[in-house]
Amino acid sequence: MKAILIKQFVSDLADLQVSDIAPPKQDKSKIQVQITHAAVTHVDQLYAQGLHQNNKRHIKPPFILGNEFSGIVTESNPLSPFKPGDRVFGGALGAYAEHANVSADTLRTVPQAWSNLQACAVGSSGAISYGALISVAGLRRGECVLILGASGGLGVMAIQIAKAVGARVIAVVGGEDKADMVRKIGADEVVSYRDVDWEESVRGKTAGGDGVEVVYDAVDQLTERVGMVRSALKCIKYRGRIVIVGFAAREGKMEQVAMNRVLLKGAAIYGYRFGEDGRRDPRRVVDAWEGFMRLVDCGKVGPVVYERSYDGLGEVARALLDVREHKTWGRAVVKVRSEGEQSKVKL
Ligand SMILES: NC(=O)c1ccc[n+]([C@@H]2O[C@H](COP(=O)([O-])OP(=O)(O)OC[C@H]3O[C@@H](n4cnc5c(N)ncnc54)[C@H](OP(=O)(O)O)[C@@H]3O)[C@@H](O)[C@H]2O)c1
Repeated sequence: MKAILIKQFVSDLADLQVSDIAPPKQDKSKIQVQITHAAVTHVDQLYAQGLHQNNKRHIKPPFILGNEFSGIVTESNPLSPFKPGDRVFGGALGAYAEHANVSADTLRTVPQAWSNLQACAVGSSGAISYGALISVAGLRRGECVLILGASGGLGVMAIQIAKAVGARVIAVVGGEDKADMVRKIGADEVVSYRDVDWEESVRGKTAGGDGVEVVYDAVDQLTERVGMVRSALKCIKYRGRIVIVGFAAREGKMEQVAMNRVLLKGAAIYGYRFGEDGRRDPRRVVDAWEGFMRLVDCGKVGPVVYERSYDGLGEVARALLDVREHKTWGRAVVKVRSEGEQSKVKL
């Protein structure tokens, strides 16, 4: 089968190549999936270059790149909830390949109303944003939330989840096309992080200029001027909550925060790692998935797919570069194989 195999970490994403490798060996404890689509995420860029914290311990070469996919079940254990022909989406390493063997607990059934392309664009982002905003930050109806990284794969889910629970959303983005997109999916106010003193503008959009109750931070790079948590502390109301989801760094240098600012704001700052929660406390991840899927089932949250199509694994490198260059919004998706190809499933 074709796959993007990382034999050694690359220093330039353009060097990623498609290899011909043996398909995964049969494993009765796993579900075999023919991958139709694979998502292009910031995490994939880091994994390719060995720059993610997981590359220190869990993920080392050789491995197949790609973390989120949708596809069609080709074989499964009769006791499994998934049957051959089922359309599924999920999060597991090895998405940039034509086939994968994955654990049933990493898979979800594609909702009837979604294509495989759309399901792939949602991936785990919805459950991650639900866990961060609702389970961790405890966002409630009537509160105002600032979404940093609002145009990204996680951010577009966070906007819709916040609106679904009755919160007011201020979205922070980096360009006009992205501003239009986040307004379309429900953002009440939009601010550009490229404006000088954009934090003042955020405060000006809150009741009495007091600031927001909650900040959701899914930014993947630090700004030139200040870090995102420092900005969040400027935008937040007294006793507000900040939940950090993005791994914001500049050239590997992590943001430093002056603790007196945390004290002066009486702020609570939470870190949230979906994968680590799954390893340490799987019930929390199940709860996040269930909460998110309830919003999907009542039509309150939907996929946001970046408009450019990437056809075949050979376009993975181009797609990752587009993400890095801030060209994309929502989730960019690579079509690995057409949904109807070699399958009876037609959409
Ligand atoms: N904690 C967890 O469990 C978990 C799970 C998955 C991912 N993550 C992390 O979450 C982050 C977001 O992931 P994603 O897939 O949503 O990434 P993404 O699609 O690439 O989105 C990143 C967002 O960051 C914004 N951004 C980049 N530089 C910025 C800057 N200097 N100032 C303000 N905003 C900036 C981008 O805005 P523009 O495009 O408008 O410039 C974009 O909206 C990544 O760091 C990823 O590693 C965490």
